[in-house]
This record gives sequence, C-alpha cells and structure tokens, in this order.
Amino acid sequence: MKYIFQLGNHPNLSRAEIEHVFLTLGLMISDLTIKKTYALVTTDSTLDIETIMNRLGGTLAIAEAVAKVEDTVQTVADYLDAHVTDKIFFSLHADNAKKLGIEVKKELKSRGRSVRYIEAGNTATILHNNLIKRKGDLILIDGTLFVTRAIQPIEAFGERDFGRPSRDSKSGMLPPKLAQIMINLSGAGDNDVLLDPFCGSGTILMEASLMGFKHIIGADLSEQAISDTRKNIDWLANTNTQSAIRNPGNIALHTKDVRHLTEKSIKTKVNAIVTEPFMGKPIKGTEPRHEIEMQARDLASLYTASFETFKKIIVPGGSIVFIIPQFMIKDEWITVNCLNSITNLGFTQTELLPGKKSLLYHRKNQHVGRMIYRFEA
Ligand SMILES: C[S@@+](CC[C@H](N)C(=O)[O-])C[C@H]1O[C@@H](n2cnc3c(N)ncnc32)[C@H](O)[C@@H]1O
Repeated sequence: MKYIFQLGNHPNLSRAEIEHVFLTLGLMISDLTIKKTYALVTTDSTLDIETIMNRLGGTLAIAEAVAKVEDTVQTVADYLDAHVTDKIFFSLHADNAKKLGIEVKKELKSRGRSVRYIEAGNTATILHNNLIKRKGDLILIDGTLFVTRAIQPIEAFGERDFGRPSRDSKSGMLPPKLAQIMINLSGAGDNDVLLDPFCGSGTILMEASLMGFKHIIGADLSEQAISDTRKNIDWLANTNTQSAIRNPGNIALHTKDVRHLTEKSIKTKVNAIVTEPFMGKPIKGTEPRHEIEMQARDLASLYTASFETFKKIIVPGGSIVFIIPQFMIKDEWITVNCLNSITNLGFTQTELLPGKKSLLYHRKNQHVGRMIYRFEA
C-alpha cells in the first residue's frame, strides 16, 4: 500500500514523528522516500488513515494511492468519473497542475459530467470545499495518482492553542502540534506514566490526555502555572468541542521545583518524561553576548540537575524528550552545553532520524530555537 504524508513546516520533525508513531503502533514501513514536501510511504498493511491522522502533530494531510498513471488526463478523469456520483469538484497538485486541471475538466465535460476545477491551495482550501468527502483533492507524483483521505484537524488545534482559558505568553507556551510531536517521539504508549516536570500552562499534559494517556503527571515550580494547568485541563474535559477529552485519565499536579521531585512525592516511577523546560528570560536578540552566555550557563546547570532527578524517578529504558533552547545573537546561535553532563549521568542519546540526534524547531524571526533531543535511561 502506498501513501503520501504531507509534511508540516519542520519536515524533519514530521518525518521523525511518522517513523516513531509507526514503531509505537507496530506498523511496518517498507519504504519511505521524501519528495518535495511529501513523505511517500509504502506499507505492508492497509492503514487506518483517520486514526493515524489524529495522532500526528506534524503531518498536514494523508493521501492514498488509487491508480498508476498511464495517460495523465485519462487516469484522473477515469478516477473521478468512476468514484464521484454527484457533481465533480476537484483540485490537482502536480507539475503544470492548472493546465492539467483544465484538460481533465474538458474531458469530463465531454463525458457529460458536471464538473468544477478548484485551484489547489492549502489544507484550508480542502476543508472549505469539502474535498475529502468529495474525493476531489488529487496528487500526481511518482507516476501515481493519490487521493487525500484526511487532513489535520487544524481548527481543533487552534482552539486548544488560543481558546483555552489560561495562556502564559510570558513564560512561553508550546504550540499544541509540537507538544504532540514530542509525545510521539518519546515512543510511550497510553498505559505508560508520563511526566512533564516544567508543565507551565499544561500544553503537553492536555495533548497527552487527548491522545488517551491514562497516567499523567505535571509539575511546576510556580503555583500560578499549576493553577493555569488545572483550569486548562478542566476546560478540555468540559468543553463540547472537537477538543473534548473523551476519557479523562488520571492527571496529578504538583507545585514543586524539578530538583525536589522524588518517587515518593509523585508516588510512582515514570516511563516517559516529555518537557519544554524553563528557557531563561525571553530575549530580543539585542542583548550583549556575555549576558546570554551567562544565561546559557545557568540553564546548563538547571538541566543537569533536572536529569539528576530524572535518573531517580524514571524506569530503566524509559525515554526523555527534552528541549534544549539556543539563542540567536547577531546571526549566531549561543548554545546551552549540557549534553556531556547528561550522558555522564548514564543517559543515552538516541537518533530521531538516521544520523540525526537532534532536530531544530525554529520559526523565522524568533530569537530562540528549540533543539529537540531524545534520551533513554
Ligand atoms: C517554558 S515554560 C513551559 C511551558 C509549557 N511547555 C507550556 O506549553 O505551557 C517553563 C516553566 O518552567 C517553570 N520552572 C522554572 N524553573 C523551574 C524549576 N526549577 N522547577 C520546575 N519548574 C520550573 C516555570 O514556572 C515555567 O512555567
């Protein structure tokens, strides 16, 4: 079976997420090739596309191969003619898409079909024109015709990002999509105990809860953060929107410095730690270099101390997905150097993609980059 996964703004992270989710779900990928913004994935078994789509933060859409292309116009017209009973609405993603689209439209009209060609845009265009239900969003690549079967629930993500009652823009919040990607990279299953020891307003905990995790622990130094998290989780449990948690599991919250967390205080060992730690004071990019270097040294000590705690509370073989920030000052990254002390504590850095032990999440014009790492205890 052949599928296309349309990758998000950070294609390497999206790809790493797909590979980790397949592994977690016990699904085999026999081939994965990157072409343009797509991952072409060949599998031995048929995928439950809807379920996989809901699971992925970094994939914008999933399409399924439906025909080998012989004569392009005929193949596309044959597909639509055979599979769409009402008026045909379609868009095409291909080289020369517009010219092809017009030719396909002509061909379908000559067959007596009522048809409308829609210029391919982003996932919002697909949503707006109801193209999934209409089987009309088509992709031609690699000599194959694909039909988009599912798109990312962008509205629900937006709702969780901007509609939740408590947002802490001062300490910063993870985009919910990135939170989901990080949880997936941990490889944890929904029966595992998952901890975010710098939970802030609870983005990772909310996403874990939606993904079906039943044992979730959040901790933060700040009482305000814990109260914000509680409000957000309650909102998620009580909201009647797409974002509602269907089976709210057990979410325990603790107001505690990461350095003082113990197995006794959280009443369990954990299988996975997924976190965006404290990243220092927000920076403008105009600060003197030495000031940011000092911040980086302070953070290195905090992160090392955090891993000393993790060592005591994680099960052997447990995974840690951790962001180490880096700061852009005059077009140069200043990094937080703590990898050696983390590995000296006995943690192993694992590859996120072949040959890549870390992946950067960074938006243009931001002065902080989030480098994502995965460790095993
Ligand atoms: C970058 S924010 C995390 C934001 C979170 N990922 C979210 O999306 O809401 C970092 C958090 O670390 C907390 N923090 C700072 N120092 C800490 C410490 N030593 N132990 C535990 N939490 C700490 C801050 O209160 C803040 O809420």
